[in-house]
Amino acid sequence: MNDLGKLEDLPQSYRDELKALNLVPLWPSLRAVLPPKVPTRQTKPTHWPYASLKPLLLQAGELTPIEKAERRVLVLANPGHGLEKMQASAAIYLGMQLLLPGEWAPSHRHTPNAVRMIVEGEGAYTTVDGEKCPMSRGDLILTPTGLWHEHGHDGDEPVVWLDVLDLPLVYYMEASYHVNGERQAVKPGRGDAAFRRAGVAPTPVFTRSARAYPMLRYPWVDTRAALEALAQDQPDLACVQVTYINPETGDDAENILGFYALMLRPGQALRLPARSPACVFHQIEGSTDIDVEGHAFNLAEADTACAPGYTAVSLRNRSDTDAAFIFMADESPLHRKLGVYENRG
Ligand SMILES: [Fe+2]
Repeated sequence: MNDLGKLEDLPQSYRDELKALNLVPLWPSLRAVLPPKVPTRQTKPTHWPYASLKPLLLQAGELTPIEKAERRVLVLANPGHGLEKMQASAAIYLGMQLLLPGEWAPSHRHTPNAVRMIVEGEGAYTTVDGEKCPMSRGDLILTPTGLWHEHGHDGDEPVVWLDVLDLPLVYYMEASYHVNGERQAVKPGRGDAAFRRAGVAPTPVFTRSARAYPMLRYPWVDTRAALEALAQDQPDLACVQVTYINPETGDDAENILGFYALMLRPGQALRLPARSPACVFHQIEGSTDIDVEGHAFNLAEADTACAPGYTAVSLRNRSDTDAAFIFMADESPLHRKLGVYENRG
């Protein structure tokens, strides 16, 4: 490959003239923006152990009242992007949020899409679009773009959840903003529970729902049962994985990020191929050894990690007696819609 000319090769007077006219020569930067075969990635393999962050999150509960925080969150920031950027990958934001008994995180809506994966504690709930969604360990609750949402807590122990948003992308698009709202009136059930039953959808007088987000809460008890049924049904299946979908269309549950649950059988090792999107791993149950191109982590229960795109990831369940369960988020829907999705095998 030819070495291209450098900026320093150009006379200063010429560079000054370009600069004065807001012009930039491409060739000194061409290889940086279009590198050969593998993109430049700021996203570094990163591990956030829950045991280390939990005391600091609880301390935030003492230091900062909810009224002064609105959302009491410690952001899981990828050092490769710079901590101040508050992003886990190019398109993924991760935050660990604490709500104490009796607290209220007021209603708002925003352009970025969010989900929350409940990490621990009982008694909290999120009201989304008038639907009161109880929060239990492993539940996934969607708060898609434009839907009102607020959090309340009737229990007696701290509740922690992992927020996953496409904030870095929407912010980069200069399309990120929020609107504050009034406390929502809780409406009668939306009928979401019907979707959790195998292969049926609500169809009053032969009419299917046209809602963009027909299901807002995916209870872990049901997702876990689906994984176990799949593993039992297909004992030779190498990868016991499910996708959180829009049950009316079969599409990904949200537009930009994809969400999945993975079960590793006792002692199972699994290699995930190098694919273009970055990927986040959150251990719901058990313990998993993860290797991302030589960066090795042990993901203990409630730990979170991320891997850059175009990188193979090896997983191994540390237990020889119990299954391990992992929640994953990635940028697949975005990459597919943009036509840049790759699986390099
Ligand atoms: Fe929000």
